[in-house]
Amino acid sequence: KKSEAWSARFNEPVSDLVKRYTASVFFDKRLALFDIQGSLAHAEMLVAQNIINARDHADIQRGMQQILSEIESGQFVWLLDLEDVHLNIEKRLTELVGDAGKRLHTGRSRNDQVATDIRLYVRSSIDTIVGLLGDFRSALLDLAEQHAATIMPGFTHMQVAQPITFGHHVLAYVEMFARDTERMLDCRKRVNRLPLGAAALAGTTFPIDRLCVAKTLGFDDVCHNSLDAVSDRDFAIEFCAAAALIMTHVSRMSEELVIWMSPRVGFIDIADRFCTGSSIMPQKKNPDVPELARGKTGRVNGHLIALLTLMKGQPLAYNKDNQEDKEPLFDTVDTIVDTLRIFADMAGGITVKPEAMRAAALQGYATATDLADYLVKKGLPFRDAHEAVALAVRTCVDQGCDLSDMRLEELQKFSSLVQEDVFAVLTLEGSVAARNHVGGTAPEQVKLAIARARQQLAAI
Ligand code: ARG
Repeated sequence: KKSEAWSARFNEPVSDLVKRYTASVFFDKRLALFDIQGSLAHAEMLVAQNIINARDHADIQRGMQQILSEIESGQFVWLLDLEDVHLNIEKRLTELVGDAGKRLHTGRSRNDQVATDIRLYVRSSIDTIVGLLGDFRSALLDLAEQHAATIMPGFTHMQVAQPITFGHHVLAYVEMFARDTERMLDCRKRVNRLPLGAAALAGTTFPIDRLCVAKTLGFDDVCHNSLDAVSDRDFAIEFCAAAALIMTHVSRMSEELVIWMSPRVGFIDIADRFCTGSSIMPQKKNPDVPELARGKTGRVNGHLIALLTLMKGQPLAYNKDNQEDKEPLFDTVDTIVDTLRIFADMAGGITVKPEAMRAAALQGYATATDLADYLVKKGLPFRDAHEAVALAVRTCVDQGCDLSDMRLEELQKFSSLVQEDVFAVLTLEGSVAARNHVGGTAPEQVKLAIARARQQLAAI
């Protein structure tokens, strides 16, 4: 006797290799709880619409409770022969409650069933990720607050550009992760629609009530075209794109953490619990966590491309290709969740070394722009001021000194507009404090930005 759900049509069983090739149970079993949730909502609608009777409904509920506890206790036996999570659960239900189990699939197909399961899974993943992004943002805000006035060099082209505050630098990442949160929540709107009712592709002949199922499962609406409902995975692609951006931001930050922790730079230290040693070099303490996160960005970006490629050649409606959507999606979620959890924790394990940051900011003529701005305020056109300061910097380079080391008379050789008050603008503190507008690096603005970000965070 053949065991497959569709086997009466076939003259011979599929080969073991084909069975293994086409089966998905070993990875899609993690959708089990969503699958049961979807089935229970479907059954509730079937009984409300008089498509099954109350006894069948009670049997289905009882059987599913039993299955749930078997899965939770690890006793549930998953069979490759039964192909996927859906058929495994349905088969067990029928074993437990008989005909009611066989009636559950009335008006439904695995095509709309799996599309529903994945949407429930992505929705719940988004909620987890948004929470973790919140924890991470909050930890970064604490770090920014401690260093609202700590001066470091800001870079462009990896060359010292202008002095900034470390708090301001950290807040740049807070902005990125706030946008990532918005993106996830925006994606959630399109995820949160119910495919169930589309059946295999054309809808069903039974008098179903899709809106009622949508309501039970917490969906905002139903998918309005049955062919689209079962076949597109754009919501998962969109989710992976948002996830790839999160990892891209994490990766940029990781790159900086690695550079900052290098003894040549020495801006920060990362707590030992996030680092590892070397099996040969006893002195080593390596920033493995940020390095690995930078590396894992590759796999998340890869999953996005995998899903786009999976989708691009598929004619309407459902094709088995779509079974390949799961592993990239699951791995994306696992990677993002672990990474954000560790980073939220690691943010509190970063020790800043203000002296090293300050020393670096003092090299590289970081206040040259301030000097040019000073001359402009005294009446010189900006391009002329730029030229005058460039000449002054060149002299400093030749003499191996800083702009602030020059005497007043020396500076006046580059512009007669220079007066005694110039030295105030050449200091690092003066430079950052002067950039006192929304989005600027002044400590005062950093504090305002932190307050704003905390409000935003509390609003979600
Ligand atoms: N395991 C399948 C998937 O992940 C479920 C849907 C299969 N439907 C079908 N007609 N073969 O997409």
